[in-house]
Order: sequence, then C-alpha cells, then structure tokens
Amino acid sequence: MTSASFKPTVGPALRTVMTAAGAAGLAVALTACGSQDGSGSSDAARAADPQAGGTGGGDSTTGSGDGAAGGGTVLAKTSEIPEGGGKIFKDRGVVVTQPTAGRFKAFSSQCTHQGCAVGSVSGGAIVCPCHGSEFSVTDGAVRRGPATQPLPAQDITVSGDEITLA
Ligand code: FES
Repeated sequence: MTSASFKPTVGPALRTVMTAAGAAGLAVALTACGSQDGSGSSDAARAADPQAGGTGGGDSTTGSGDGAAGGGTVLAKTSEIPEGGGKIFKDRGVVVTQPTAGRFKAFSSQCTHQGCAVGSVSGGAIVCPCHGSEFSVTDGAVRRGPATQPLPAQDITVSGDEITLA
C-alpha cells in the first residue's frame, strides 16, 4: 500500500482539482455499484476507485449525497458514454449514444433484422454481430443491411450527469 502517497511536486491548485475529480469518481463508483451489479461498467468504476481513494482522502459526504434519482432507472453517468459512440446495456436492452458532445440518445439494443442483441458501437455505428447490420448512433437508422428497419428509439432523461431510462 505504498501507492497512495502524494508526490510533493503537485501544487495546491492541482491538488484541489484532483480532489474534486476524485470525489466525482467516487460518486460514479458508488452509483455504478449500486445500480449495475454484474455489468461491464463496474470495471471502469473500479479502475477509477484507487485514484479516488488516493487523492480524495476518503470524502464520504459526496458519496452519500444525491446518488438516487427520482423515478426511472439510472442507466449510466454521461461520462461513461463516449462522444461519437455509445455503450450497450445488455441487461436493460438498450444502447445509449452520444452523437455529438452533450447530446444523448437511446435505442433498443435488439437488432431489427432477426432479433440478435447488437454487439458493439464503433465508427459512429451500432453493429449487430449476427449478420453485420449497422445502425446510426444519431437516429438508429440503418447504415448497412441486411436490416431494413431502424432501431426503435428509447426515452431517456439526462439530469446533471445522470442518464435515466424512462
Ligand atoms: Fe442483426 Fe441479422 S439479426 S443483422
């Protein structure tokens, strides 16, 4: 446990920034663990956790604050969704995308061709692994067949940095 020590070269201003970032990361970790057990996103949360503990010095007030959103099901933090790409939430049957900065969309993750679950998001497309159909991250439209119908849009609400499935 020697990795938690500060380097003396870090100035007070930078340390303040890092502490704020660490607290935010801790909040993400706590929320992710509470609402997404077993999903792949917990890896990212765990990766951020040691940094939060090391620089934040255990800021428990942030974690116990406003973690629970009113109504709906919290899917993710906005920071989890890559700009120009997206993230698939298999167990929720939804894929959330961020076509442009700060603009979020959600679609069914069930391919409209023969019902496979879409498998990845890359190059601005949501890709089905079964027969190679591709759908736009912007509006779910078919970019490549054999699918002919767009992915149905799903209602989400973005509140602060939290994305909630309606
Ligand atoms: Fe998705 Fe065929 S089920 S491409």
